[in-house]
Amino acid sequence: MERSPIIAPSILASDFSRLAEEVHAIEGAADWAHVDVMDNHFVPNLTIGLPVVQSLRKATDIPFDVHLMITDPQRWAPAYAEAGAYNVTFHAEACDDPVALAKTLRAAGAKAGLAIDRDTPVEPYLELLPYLDTVLIMTIKAGFGGQSFLPEMLEKVRDVRRRAEVNQLEIRIEVDGGIAADTIEQAAEAGADAFVAGTAVYGAADPAEAIRKLRALAAARMGLA
Ligand code: DX5
Ligand code: ZN
Repeated sequence: MERSPIIAPSILASDFSRLAEEVHAIEGAADWAHVDVMDNHFVPNLTIGLPVVQSLRKATDIPFDVHLMITDPQRWAPAYAEAGAYNVTFHAEACDDPVALAKTLRAAGAKAGLAIDRDTPVEPYLELLPYLDTVLIMTIKAGFGGQSFLPEMLEKVRDVRRRAEVNQLEIRIEVDGGIAADTIEQAAEAGADAFVAGTAVYGAADPAEAIRKLRALAAARMGLA
């Protein structure tokens, strides 16, 4: 199955006082804008929520990859799909019926994603892959940008990729946390094909150029260069 890399800059690392401009800065270069929603319960940090996503949706055409780090996603996630998010990812640790929520999200017109945090094994979730469009493997502990990439998390990426290949599933495997020029190749090599990058994009002098560089590095490891 031919896969080209998805590069999804995380606006968590952008200037929140200029959100629309910061998203415009990656348009044309990035595939998705990654939106980290944190609720100060599931993770200690607090970021943005539905009203901001609704407003921002009107300011750009770039697909939104919404990463919900919140408790009770059954209650809140569908509204993000209704607000026009392209992909809505919720955490396995916060949801007791991931299949039901994935079905709800798909019915609301979004792709459905399941995120696996640093301390959660992926094995119990492999049988759910047919119900999902994306699996997000955290390569840090969810909650804050700017942390160091944990290479041992790539074992989970390999497990998901192996299962997807065996069962011939069309699923995106996304990695999130510490993705930069010096880590993206190993993630691509392990089987990831969607890459979230906050600091590596918005910390760069030229975000669009940083995206192009990440894309080239990933594509080369995916055999697409
Ligand atoms: C952290 C978020 C990430 C974060 C990544 O919990 O899910 O999306 O923005 O930031 P970097 O790329 O700086 O590690
Ligand atoms: Zn994220």
